[in-house]
Amino acid sequence: MAPSRPRIDIESVFRLTELADYIVPFTVRAVADLGIADQLTDGPRPVAELADATGAHAPSLLRALRALAGKGIFTEVEPEVFALTPLAEPLRTDHPLSLRDAYPLLAPDIEAWAHFDHSIRTGKAAFDQVHPEGYWSYMAAHPRDSARFDASQQAATRLELRAALPAYPWGDLGTMVDVGGGNGAFLGGIMARFPNLRGTLFDLPHVVAEAEPVLQKLGVAQRCTVTGGSFFETVPAGADAYMLKRILYGWDDDGAVRLLRAVRAAMRPDSRLLVLEPVVEPGDRFDVGRLYDLLLLAMVGGGARSREHIERLLDVADLKLARSLPTMMFPILEIVPKTEA
Ligand SMILES: C[S@@+](CC[C@H](N)C(=O)[O-])C[C@H]1O[C@@H](n2cnc3c(N)ncnc32)[C@H](O)[C@@H]1O
Repeated sequence: MAPSRPRIDIESVFRLTELADYIVPFTVRAVADLGIADQLTDGPRPVAELADATGAHAPSLLRALRALAGKGIFTEVEPEVFALTPLAEPLRTDHPLSLRDAYPLLAPDIEAWAHFDHSIRTGKAAFDQVHPEGYWSYMAAHPRDSARFDASQQAATRLELRAALPAYPWGDLGTMVDVGGGNGAFLGGIMARFPNLRGTLFDLPHVVAEAEPVLQKLGVAQRCTVTGGSFFETVPAGADAYMLKRILYGWDDDGAVRLLRAVRAAMRPDSRLLVLEPVVEPGDRFDVGRLYDLLLLAMVGGGARSREHIERLLDVADLKLARSLPTMMFPILEIVPKTEA
């Protein structure tokens, strides 16, 4: 059969140009970093004032805001005067689901994306092409980037928390360990709603070192133990529940099984493990899980798995899926020991 001839469809060419562009995403990130949305909470302001208040170069800020206004993020209500729009609101720091810190311009991440074709060719992390020590060792050695990464996780957690709270009977739990729980925003957010829940936050030492103010602010510090360590070595034992939120998919199958075995070793016969992360579904439907999946591929070489794939790993680690609870983001997989320990 002769190859088909390309169809010239100008709409599609323009649409692809928009989709493939990275200028708008980078501009959103730069404008978020400047805190422009916070300057517009009392109403529209001239760009000269915004530039003054944020230390920006007014003509360049004008160009950035006009580009974003073309996408519905901010609006130019009169020449050189800008206001918030629904798409700009989540860039406010005081927004309950604030995304201001969600999209940091982290140089090592951006360098890694420049090698993303390597990930697609090999299945390995593009990040390691630039920083062979790997993502987590890089972060441990770069406190500023690490703090910005943790803040981005905290921002993502706001939405995940809202999705997870109504989806699981958290009130039935007395104790929960958040394994790889970052700076405690998720665990603390659950504990703040369930005053009988006692928590343990477990993550690498340099990460949990930043948790205290987050837990204090949520009013749960008295009920939360903070423990630093590697989840490949040991996990705090004997809790009612263990949480792995966006952790398992950061590791290849060998790493994931090692991690699951470490959690299994810490579990009582009646403990449960809750895995909260994207699960791969076939088909064209777009969801944020597909973005996370590729982010993980680029940065750490892991990625989302199908439910069947997760079940195979659980089986090797002497665990089994009890049920899968849908949330408006990722499902919560409730997992129990397969045999008595
Ligand atoms: C993608 S983040 C997810 C954080 C948090 N669970 C959330 O959903 O916001 C992965 C976390 O795993 C932690 N981590 C990586 N390697 C670890 C290890 N060996 N032991 C404990 N935590 C680790 C990182 O420090 C980071 O906080």
